[in-house]
Amino acid sequence: MKVVILEDAAAVAHYGADIFREQLGKKPASVFGLATGSTPLSLYRELIRSNQQGDISFAQVQSFNLDEYMDLAPDHPQSYRHFMNREFFDHIDIDPARTHVPPGNAPNPLTACDEYETAIAAAGGIDIQLLGIGRNGHIGFNEPTSCLSSRTRVKTLTRETIEDNARFFSADEHQPQLSITMGIGTIMEAKLVVLLATGASKAEAIRAMVEGPVAAWCPASALQMHPSTVVIVDEEAASGLT
Ligand code: F6R
Repeated sequence: MKVVILEDAAAVAHYGADIFREQLGKKPASVFGLATGSTPLSLYRELIRSNQQGDISFAQVQSFNLDEYMDLAPDHPQSYRHFMNREFFDHIDIDPARTHVPPGNAPNPLTACDEYETAIAAAGGIDIQLLGIGRNGHIGFNEPTSCLSSRTRVKTLTRETIEDNARFFSADEHQPQLSITMGIGTIMEAKLVVLLATGASKAEAIRAMVEGPVAAWCPASALQMHPSTVVIVDEEAASGLT
């Protein structure tokens, strides 16, 4: 696990975006695992700019998002499919048919989870998996106590995660408590993992992930066992490291 500590969030986004730009230069038909949340937004904006300037192309890329809320239709404004279209896909030259988000409203979620794993394998596996991290150490929606070899499945969100994400929902809006998420085992198969974290609220999770024991209490700690993970953090997020 390589830890890169940079001055601020803008530098974190820039460093992360460079990894994607370099990968596209080497392999235009790359397979990217993508994340939602606030942390990757600046990285997405950098990649949008590079694409619109003609420096990189996503025309041959396939993408697989980490997770989706259960029981939200893809066009629901709070769905992660909607988030990805709005924040990234609608602004780049990616083929929408090559972008994948777990189907949170699938009639048979269990089959849908297996099919998601099959689709990732059929694409040749994930070249770069982009991750944020929850304050409780979750990656994707793999909450504390998740099995470290888990695969894509339905997962209950913890109270802490529901509270953290409540900022995206209005008071009278239904906030789902279940998700479909890639498992930790799924994430661990990515060839390269790029985890971004910014701000003091992530300091304890970063400390537990990097310096704590590998334990289901901090799902991100499994990445200590991954052969190629880059953790890119700003000084605030790194403030708990010894
Ligand atoms: C998002 C995801 C989550 C977030 C995490 C951090 O697809 O899987 O694990 O990466 O909750 O969210 P932010 O970036 O909003 O702090």
